[in-house]
Amino acid sequence: MVSQSNKQVFTRLNNGVEMPILGLGVYDMHGKEAEQAIQNALEIGYRLVDTAAMYGNEKEVGNAIKKSDIPRAEIFITSKVNNIDQGYDSTLHAFERSLGNLRTEYLDLYLIHWPIRGKRRETWKALEKIYKEGQVRAIGVANYLIPFLEELGTYGIVVPAVNQIEFSPYLFLKELYQFCKKQDVQLQAYSPLVRGKKFEDPRLVNLARKYGKTPAQIILRWDIELGVSPIPKSVNPLRLKENFDVFDFSLTKEDVALIGSFNENLRLVDDPMVFF
Ligand SMILES: NC(=O)c1ccc[n+]([C@@H]2O[C@H](COP(=O)([O-])OP(=O)(O)OC[C@H]3O[C@@H](n4cnc5c(N)ncnc54)[C@H](OP(=O)(O)O)[C@@H]3O)[C@@H](O)[C@H]2O)c1
Repeated sequence: MVSQSNKQVFTRLNNGVEMPILGLGVYDMHGKEAEQAIQNALEIGYRLVDTAAMYGNEKEVGNAIKKSDIPRAEIFITSKVNNIDQGYDSTLHAFERSLGNLRTEYLDLYLIHWPIRGKRRETWKALEKIYKEGQVRAIGVANYLIPFLEELGTYGIVVPAVNQIEFSPYLFLKELYQFCKKQDVQLQAYSPLVRGKKFEDPRLVNLARKYGKTPAQIILRWDIELGVSPIPKSVNPLRLKENFDVFDFSLTKEDVALIGSFNENLRLVDDPMVFF
């Protein structure tokens, strides 16, 4: 965490690019609902939008950003290459399509969405080319557990700036967390709120009471205390606000450790190892 402006906190990626530590995930929102949610989020102060070709809503993201009067340079846009598009040439084409859908000349971050067997190397090489040409400010991966990152290290020239993985107090991947810290790969937490499935955990409820915050805010603040970038999704204006209102308090070291002890290896999304 390096700098703070207004309500925004940024993390510096391994290539010097500054990324808002907290962003809006837009999985499973579509059409007008998506456009409205993204516009609301931008008004609240969100400046990172995490989309993907697979989500089928890049156009809505582009529309919402155009409708806001916020300069493009102040918004951090992430998208991801879809599994069916992996491979060298097809990734280059997929990237161009994403730029068109998002109505932008560059992306801030482009990720490999899943570590597809037999395609990882060529896809990464395509991302390196796009990065070297300056069409994207940073490149990274998603769902890369340690064996995938080690494999990438054998052929990659560029070290991924970000690794986006399923991560929460209930899926606290400590070894991967340490590995990424050591390699200066920014960990980004998807499904950080466990899709709302754990808000009634009495331990979380107790902490929420203690800090005068909500269970969602306690989890998001825990990520930030760890230096992890959470990208919660919501289409609800009140919940969007709630999820962004996490910059006015901090957790004690003891409570950060306590929350880390909630781990139960709970996954909502596929285990990436099935792709190894
Ligand atoms: N790279 C990958 O493979 C991958 C996989 C999955 C997700 N992601 C990214 O990560 C983002 C977030 O993950 P996610 O969408 O799976 O799960 P999430 O952010 O953990 O949870 C979203 C769910 O929780 C609800 N919610 C949000 N804030 C809430 C709050 N304060 N109180 C109560 N309920 C709340 C939302 O409903 P409402 O909308 O009704 O508020 C939605 O149903 C995605 O949108 C996507 O951008 C990436």
